[in-house]
Amino acid sequence: MASQSLRFLSLTRRAFSSSTSALKFNGGVSMVQGASRGIGLQFVKQLLENNDRGHVIATCRNPNSSTGLIHLKDKFADRLKILPLDLTDETSIEASALSIKDAYGHLNLLINASGILSIPEVLQPAYYVSYICNTETTLNKLEKSSLMLAYEVNAVGPILVIKHMWPLLKIGGGFGTERSTAVVASLSARVGSIGDNHLGGWHSYRASKTALNQLSKTASVEFARKKDPIVCILLHPGTVDTDLSKPFQKNVPKDKLFTKEFSVQKMLSIIDNVKVHDNGKFFAWDGQEIPW
Ligand SMILES: NC(=O)c1ccc[n+]([C@@H]2O[C@H](COP(=O)([O-])OP(=O)(O)OC[C@H]3O[C@@H](n4cnc5c(N)ncnc54)[C@H](OP(=O)(O)O)[C@@H]3O)[C@@H](O)[C@H]2O)c1
Repeated sequence: MASQSLRFLSLTRRAFSSSTSALKFNGGVSMVQGASRGIGLQFVKQLLENNDRGHVIATCRNPNSSTGLIHLKDKFADRLKILPLDLTDETSIEASALSIKDAYGHLNLLINASGILSIPEVLQPAYYVSYICNTETTLNKLEKSSLMLAYEVNAVGPILVIKHMWPLLKIGGGFGTERSTAVVASLSARVGSIGDNHLGGWHSYRASKTALNQLSKTASVEFARKKDPIVCILLHPGTVDTDLSKPFQKNVPKDKLFTKEFSVQKMLSIIDNVKVHDNGKFFAWDGQEIPW
């Protein structure tokens, strides 16, 4: 049994190990939601650089203040479209879908790359504020407002994006690319796994990612039932050096803290190579499946 599992793992790894230099999505229309900075911005960059015929739509709350996106727009003016989208405002999600429909008529790839873990004075999974431990390391400090905010941004927003982009993904499938299906990939986190929860803490973030997993899995079942040409997966990027992980990097060994470039290269390889039978699965950056 153990050797069978090892064989499965090595096959899974091999299946996802090809390089991103020639994406099967080349020629397609991709959307990256949560693209202002961090992992999302890196996805936009690599999709443009490794996909010389592809178009990318990057969405974020404040397009005018994302210097990273503005820089990419200077370089890839014809193939990058930047749209405003705030996950807490469903009308902005609908407006993006309309804009994409008018400009391209379809979508082949949707990446939900946004997320919140900590916001000083608002969402505090493990912060010491003025010598007072006001954190989610203990149940006593749990606050309704933190739970609701994490759920709204990390679970409700991304599934509403999938809902509004669904018709465009259904039309798109693999059209114009070397793939036979469209792909929806949402960035979750290993801490969202209930089976993997041995440490506790981070209640709001953990639970919001668990909810995102369940909502995405449920969508994947509906896509399969309706025979829509869409594969829907969840991804854990590893611990990546971004603003999100900065306050928690102290105890992370150097070789376990990935660059954005490395993590996104690995995840793009998974996205580019997923098959219909991967629909509804939760993968880590190295292609290993994570238990729910
Ligand atoms: N970094 C890690 O180690 C790590 C580990 C596991 C999972 N992840 C997951 O990976 C994803 C990306 O994380 P990251 O490290 O790139 O984080 P990041 O650098 O903090 O970027 C977060 C992104 O989410 C956007 N965002 C926040 N609230 C939003 C809202 N209401 N509407 C639209 N966009 C919003 C931010 O936009 P603004 O610029 O407008 O704030 C920003 O683009 C997240 O889902 C995170 O949970 C990260």
